[in-house]
Amino acid sequence: MRELIILGLETSCDETAAAVVRRNANGAGQILSNIVHSQLADHAPYGGVVPEIAARAHVQRLDGLIAKAMVEAGIGFDRLDGVAATAGPGLLGGLLVAMMEGKAIALARDIPFIAVNHLEGHALTPRLLGACEFPYLLLLISGGHTQFQLVEGVGKYTRLGTTIDDALGEAFDKVAKLLGLPYPGGPQVEAAALKGNAKRFAFPRPLKGRDDCNFSFSGLKTAVREVVKGMPILSSQDVADVAASFEAAIADTMADRLAHAFAAFRARHNLTRPIFVVAGGVAANKKLRGVFEVECAKAGFTLSVPPFHLCTDNAAMVAWAGAERLALGLSDELDFAARPRWPLDSISEPVYGHGRLGAKA
Ligand code: KG4
Ligand code: ZN
Repeated sequence: MRELIILGLETSCDETAAAVVRRNANGAGQILSNIVHSQLADHAPYGGVVPEIAARAHVQRLDGLIAKAMVEAGIGFDRLDGVAATAGPGLLGGLLVAMMEGKAIALARDIPFIAVNHLEGHALTPRLLGACEFPYLLLLISGGHTQFQLVEGVGKYTRLGTTIDDALGEAFDKVAKLLGLPYPGGPQVEAAALKGNAKRFAFPRPLKGRDDCNFSFSGLKTAVREVVKGMPILSSQDVADVAASFEAAIADTMADRLAHAFAAFRARHNLTRPIFVVAGGVAANKKLRGVFEVECAKAGFTLSVPPFHLCTDNAAMVAWAGAERLALGLSDELDFAARPRWPLDSISEPVYGHGRLGAKA
């Protein structure tokens, strides 16, 4: 296989991003540029992502980001072997921006267009960063998704478990809101928890002990709401104690769910030291990171967490997924339609909360 240089575009939620990656003939990857513009400040006053604002901001920014990504990569458009754009899942108005732009460049340069599943971008990121042979176990924990995937090859995914209600990042954000902390709440809850007493409130451990790899966070969130309602005035110590008790419940649940997912992986693949990959913004949480380390050591898995800027939404992962697909001879027609819902694993039954319309990925 020859070397491939791919431009990747990402506009599925609230990050506008363009990147250029190279896939060497031996399959190794290299990031030539990776530009991300976060729209966080545009959405923060509303406490969440506003689709219309997001789509407009993507339109305004994407051209400039592409130009910057090409300059930083030090190449002209004539050097590109393909253009990859996130085609779903995500907010339709946003998806259309990268799709249109990607198709236009592919048409003008007469190079292949690759429609990328955003979740596949997250799933394949460890292979861009170093040796990571299939099969491996993936946990994706972001603002819109919480799922275990068995990754057996490009396009070969089996969902081992998913949230049946809220995503994990969403649970952090909602608890932050209840505590009067700003959006996005995950880092705020983590910081508050450092000064709190994790034993003060006995929050539920949802699905703990259940013989599957699913998650549920809405009951836990309701329990937090009830506790907060019972305290008309929240002192900063109360906030810290609720945050710490909530985080402890999440950590405990995660350890239990991980044990089930590791067993489910081992039931399918008998590897001496399998790889466990974690992606998504919540992977930044240090308490959870500790749980991953302990549980991987217990179960004989090697933990692989990409650096934070590649765990969260970016276009390098989109370009890389495009490169992996193109290397296998896969590309898409220019009439490929955006897919707001696009589960990675098309075989498993849909579950509420999984790949749903408008979900952040
Ligand atoms: O992957 P991501 O950047 O964006 C998408 O969802 O697409 O993930 C964002 C989510 C937010 O819900 C945010 O609150 C959460 O990740 N998050 C965290 C932490 N940092 C970000 N949650 C818990 N602890 C953190 N340190
Ligand atoms: Zn994502």
